[in-house]
Amino acid sequence: ADFLFFFSGLIGRSWAMVFAAGGFKVKLYDIAQQQLMNALENIRQQMKEMEKLGVLKGALSAEQQFALISVCTDLKAAVEGATFIQECTPENLELKKKIFGQLDLIVDDNVILSSSTSCLLPSKLFTGLKHVKQCIVSHPVNPPYFVPLVEIVPHPETDPSTTERTYALMKKIGQSPVKLNREIEGFVLNRLQYAVISEAWRLVGEGVISPTDLDLVMSDGLGMRYAFIGPLETMHLNAEG
Ligand code: NAI
Repeated sequence: ADFLFFFSGLIGRSWAMVFAAGGFKVKLYDIAQQQLMNALENIRQQMKEMEKLGVLKGALSAEQQFALISVCTDLKAAVEGATFIQECTPENLELKKKIFGQLDLIVDDNVILSSSTSCLLPSKLFTGLKHVKQCIVSHPVNPPYFVPLVEIVPHPETDPSTTERTYALMKKIGQSPVKLNREIEGFVLNRLQYAVISEAWRLVGEGVISPTDLDLVMSDGLGMRYAFIGPLETMHLNAEG
């Protein structure tokens, strides 16, 4: 089986569980051994709890899934045999650039280098790397275990095969990938979200509606519709087309 490799914070742990549910072997890497031990214990408990509640993903038992996850504090050893690396370090450009710089020196020409970043552009993260063709952003939505969307955002020099392989991998584990044809500030989810937020500020700020009622418009109205169909499909299906 392929080896996937992650970092062990909140998002890294969640990715690890999603991939283990898909039957993949997973290595967690972090700078601190204690962080890894905490991550493992946390994953074990979450898996057991979800199995009990009947919401564990995948065909394998919690025990079988947990057995697919190992930990590592040596970057070189962590990279060994990996076909896909999902970076999940804190949202800090300098730190992420340093990590991708280190990975660039030790990876082969096949592995995919993917970042979980919420808002750093691929051109900021990957420009100048020797393996830039293998680099991509795979932006999850918290919590990725239950929210399937993944925004796949290429660097201008990302090889199309990197995008396709990442897309196929996300499909395989049951996530819902979408491809951006080029990078843009905020990607797509946050651009839509910020359009809504800015109108919400305006309506509340101008005294049109109370904050509580504004939120109800979304949670008991528009949000329910958008949980099933997007804005374009809504327009398409509206009366008179
Ligand atoms: P976190 O703070 O929970 O985890 C970061 C992990 O990186 C920690 O385990 C830390 O020990 C480790 N770390 C720090 N420096 C390191 C280094 N030099 N080498 C290796 N590991 C190192 O952060 P979180 O929330 O998991 O976020 C990670 C990434 O995921 C960020 O880029 C964030 O923007 C993105 N993201 C977060 C979402 C969220 O809702 N939390 C949603 C979507 C994306």
